Amino acid sequence: MANQVSLKAHTQAGDEVVAHPQAHIVRAESAGGAAISGVHFRTVGNPDGTMAPQQVLDVYQAGDDPHYAPTRLVCLENTHNACGGKAIGLAEIEAVARVAREKGLALHLDGARLLNACIALDVKPERMAAPFDSLTLCFSKGLGAPVGSIIAGRRDFIVRCARFRKMFGGGTRQAGILAEAARHALAHHVERLAEDHANARRLAEGLRETGKVELPYGLPETNIVFFRSTHPRVTQDRLLDALKTEGILIGRSKGGTSRIVTHLDVDAHDIERTLRVARRALTAG
Ligand SMILES: Cc1ncc(COP(=O)(O)O)c(C=O)c1O
Repeated sequence: MANQVSLKAHTQAGDEVVAHPQAHIVRAESAGGAAISGVHFRTVGNPDGTMAPQQVLDVYQAGDDPHYAPTRLVCLENTHNACGGKAIGLAEIEAVARVAREKGLALHLDGARLLNACIALDVKPERMAAPFDSLTLCFSKGLGAPVGSIIAGRRDFIVRCARFRKMFGGGTRQAGILAEAARHALAHHVERLAEDHANARRLAEGLRETGKVELPYGLPETNIVFFRSTHPRVTQDRLLDALKTEGILIGRSKGGTSRIVTHLDVDAHDIERTLRVARRALTAG
């Protein structure tokens, strides 16, 4: 909702928005950009989740030709969820920001996992946020609060967002108790994201060492591991079934690649146990 409110506050119906084809705002928000804001996405980017400045320029439209919708906004996502939790570096972000500024476009960050990127790259959040006109950040996910996200931006933008939040039905009166949980998460759960990253890496390394599992995005930089079985008999489904019998539940995707996300309820013992069960399933097959 924070992304959708931001989209609404940045654009008018009929505008174009540049975003990565695998971005959450494009593929996992129920076509909210089209349905709520009436915007059209132009999707560009690299397989690793990054976007090159030239790719933005390639689809940029000034709005001076009536055939073409004006480009209004560029959206980045960091870390990039569907691209293996890729942490996009400041230099790459600043390069896109320069093009956006040059063309008078707003720049929005889906920073659901922004603090994972900051920890992985050892960059301060304020530096990572600086190139953007707006950003969203989730207090749940790795930060471990039960619920909630924020939008950050200039005051006039936030005033517009508050109106759209109300319009969308999100003007929660009882937000104080939720805000306190988020405050706790910010105070106590940021530095420890490094543990999630180490756990994800250990899990990915262990799976890869079996020689029967492929990691489409390689070893994780942050807390997201994508993997699939390449075993001729122990298919992904069979591997996930074996894990399930031991109480380790992993989602199934259409393409046969699964995604595991480490967080503060998962520790190094859980990782070793998962690897033991996976190894057993893969060798028994
Ligand atoms: C990159 C990204 N943005 C935003 C969200 C927020 O989505 P939701 O509405 O499911 O909380 C998520 C959640 O998975 C996400 O991964």
